[in-house]
Amino acid sequence: MRTTALAHALAVASGLAASAAAETVHGALVFTRHGDRTTKHYGAQVLTNLGAQQLFLVGSDYRARYLDSASPNQIQGISEFQYVPAQIHASAPDQRILLDTATAFLQGLYPPLSETRPQIEGQQLANGSSVNNPLGGYQYVTLHGISADSSDAVWIKGDDECPAVARASAEFRASAEYRTRLAATRDFYRSLHPLVDDVYPSADDLSYAKAYDIFDIINVQRTHNKTSAAAQATDAQVLQLRTLADSAEFGLNYNASQPARSIHATTLAGAVWRHLNDTVSSAKGPKFSLLAGSYDTFLAFFGLANLTAASPDFYGLPDYASTMAFEVFTQRPDFRPADARVRFLFRNGTAGTLRAFPLFGAQKTDLSWDEFSDVMQTRGISTAEQWCGVCQSQAPFCAAYEVGNGGVTANAVSADSGVSRGSWIAVVVVMAVALAGNLVWAALCLLGSRKRKEQVAAAGAGKEVHSVRSHDSGSV
Ligand SMILES: *[C@@H]1O[C@H](CO)[C@@H](O)[C@H](O)[C@H]1NC(C)=O
Ligand SMILES: *[C@@H]1O[C@H](CO)[C@@H](O)[C@H](O)[C@H]1NC(C)=O
Ligand SMILES: *[C@@H]1O[C@H](CO)[C@@H](O)[C@H](O)[C@H]1NC(C)=O
Ligand SMILES: *[C@@H]1O[C@H](CO)[C@@H](O)[C@H](O)[C@H]1NC(C)=O
Ligand SMILES: *[C@@H]1O[C@H](CO)[C@@H](O)[C@H](O)[C@H]1NC(C)=O
Ligand SMILES: *[C@@H]1O[C@H](CO)[C@@H](O)[C@H](O)[C@H]1NC(C)=O
Repeated sequence: MRTTALAHALAVASGLAASAAAETVHGALVFTRHGDRTTKHYGAQVLTNLGAQQLFLVGSDYRARYLDSASPNQIQGISEFQYVPAQIHASAPDQRILLDTATAFLQGLYPPLSETRPQIEGQQLANGSSVNNPLGGYQYVTLHGISADSSDAVWIKGDDECPAVARASAEFRASAEYRTRLAATRDFYRSLHPLVDDVYPSADDLSYAKAYDIFDIINVQRTHNKTSAAAQATDAQVLQLRTLADSAEFGLNYNASQPARSIHATTLAGAVWRHLNDTVSSAKGPKFSLLAGSYDTFLAFFGLANLTAASPDFYGLPDYASTMAFEVFTQRPDFRPADARVRFLFRNGTAGTLRAFPLFGAQKTDLSWDEFSDVMQTRGISTAEQWCGVCQSQAPFCAAYEVGNGGVTANAVSADSGVSRGSWIAVVVVMAVALAGNLVWAALCLLGSRKRKEQVAAAGAGKEVHSVRSHDSGSV
């Protein structure tokens, strides 16, 4: 009896070992949040030295998983020490904090050659001398900064300039859930006034309506300023503030019965799929892609991909420098698209390890490439034109698609349905937009354009911008 059980256990263990050993990774995409930063309250937040260290560490850990030849998960054919441009794609919105975030990550991914491979560092000149790059063979990994005016902006920040997201998100504040919490936490927030009275002059301004902002101010001060009043906040108060901010931000970014709230997750899904499709279908595609974005896109994706069913922890805000990874692998060393599988992994900040979770409420932590493609294309948005339609966006590049003319929008969506089967999100949103009526629409346009003008004016004057909405471009 015992021997049988032991034999069985051994068989299972060796089976697992064998399958792990046989696995070959062919490509990966990582989406990262910025690291520690100054408060978002005034806008123009920047990555701190601590934040840069966090991203460098996370980048180094991805190096250990995907580049190191001793790793069982090394990406097949990837250059281990020397950066090869065709193998790596990195992009971030044109915002300093996210560009710096991606840069620090890439510094960890491909550190200076003097630290890893001094023998291949120098370039030989005709006169026989050898020359290194500055800073010990620093490697200049190309990072694409995406302008907010470019149609490519929708892939990483599909909520910016998207009135449909803003409108859906604003409805959270009308929900019973929101109003109950607003009332139940009023005394708690008022009691914190002495901690933030330098930022909020009146205790009346403190409520669940500003859950993230208040949490952020106190959290940042506690880390950076020992003499600030906020540093007096207790661990219990901070936990309470964080939990309330979790619920508010999740509510603003996902609602199962209102897909428009997560349009930014549908564009991310589209981008992830396209990048991995390039990896899978062409030997020339990038082997490793890095995208830097915001926590609201994480939360919307957690909802869209039903990760909250895998673990209730996904209802919470991801810590600074959190990453989600999508890796394509096969059980055999040679690559055949029909054998490819995709796995989703998440690491919460710099603590803990990268862990696999099942996507879309599945039982297993990997999907076949076909299953993955199917669901990412069904739930995802795959063209900027589609995004313009579902968002009813006034972004300059949308002018090319004649958005706002309902007939064209609806046609664009259905014409695309061969590519993205069942664009139910698009259809639902277009219907909702049609129903919402012109009055609301006109008011939102006015508000939206005023908000943009204010931001531009404030940025120009170097003034402080108070960002309270979760979908400002400062939402990082
Ligand atoms: C070789 O050329 C480089 C670049 O012009 C110069 O800096 C270096 O001093 C030269 N070395 C010798 C040995 O002449
Ligand atoms: C989710 O959306 C539904 C339908 O729009 C709405 O009735 C409900 O209040 C929303 N819940 C939250 C928490 O936003
Ligand atoms: C720290 O907080 C105190 C009290 O609010 C303030 O006077 C001081 O300028 C802050 N220091 C820094 C470095 O921000
Ligand atoms: C997926 O990759 C294949 C091969 O490169 C390409 O033909 C196809 O257009 C790609 N699909 C999309 C939507 O990019
Ligand atoms: C990440 O960590 C925070 C606390 O630091 C927690 O609230 C959140 O639920 C965690 N998320 C996941 C997916 O583990
Ligand atoms: C999420 O996954 C759970 C568990 O598999 C399932 O019961 C639920 O219907 C799924 N929800 C959505 C929105 O897909």
